[in-house]
Amino acid sequence: MEFTWLSLCSEETENFGRLLGGLLRPGDVVCLYGELGAGKTVLAKGIARGLGVTEAVTSPTFTLINEYAGRLPFFHMDAYRLSGPREMYDLGCEEYFYGEGVTVVEWPERVEEVLPAERLNIYLKVRPEEPGQRELCLVPRGRRYEELLGELKELVRAGH
Ligand SMILES: Nc1ncnc2c1ncn2[C@@H]1O[C@H](COP(=O)(O)OP(=O)(O)O)[C@@H](O)[C@H]1O
Ligand SMILES: [Mg+2]
Repeated sequence: MEFTWLSLCSEETENFGRLLGGLLRPGDVVCLYGELGAGKTVLAKGIARGLGVTEAVTSPTFTLINEYAGRLPFFHMDAYRLSGPREMYDLGCEEYFYGEGVTVVEWPERVEEVLPAERLNIYLKVRPEEPGQRELCLVPRGRRYEELLGELKELVRAGH
C-alpha cells in the first residue's frame, strides 16, 4: 500500500509533515529520499512541528545529527556527508533508531545497511516542469507503518 501526494508549494510540504508528525509514536523511523533541494529538510521541519518542537530546526548536513525536545525526543539525521553505514553505526545510530524518540533520516540510501527494516520511506520528487511542486510517495515497511499511513491518508482526505 503506497500513497502518493502532490505538494504545490513548500508550505504545503511543511504542513503535510506537521500532520505526519502529529501521528508519530516512540521508536518511529522515517526515511526521506530525494535529490538536493527536493524538500527533505522542509518536510522534516514540519514533522518537528507536529511533534511539538518549538526550537528552530536547521539542516543537519554538517552536524550529522540534531536533537530536539518535543512531545517526544526528535532526532534529525543527514547522512549526506557520511562515508557510509559504518560511520553511521559508530555515531551510535542504533540508540536513536531503537530508542524512545522519533528519528528522521535524510539521504538514507547512503546508510541503508544500518537502517531498521521497519520504517516509513518517503520519496520526494521534483517536477521540473513545475518548479514549485513536489511529488511525495510514501511507502510503509511493516505493520506499524501501514497503520500510520492509513491514519495519515484519512487526515489528508479530511482536508486538514
Ligand atoms: N512544494 C515544495 N515542497 C518543498 N520545498 C519546496 C517546494 N517548492 C519549492 N521548494 C523549495 O525547495 C527547497 C527545498 O530545500 P530543502 O528542504 O533544504 O531540500 P533537501 O533537504 O531535500 O536538500 C526550498 O528552498 C523550498 O523552498
Ligand atoms: Mg536537507
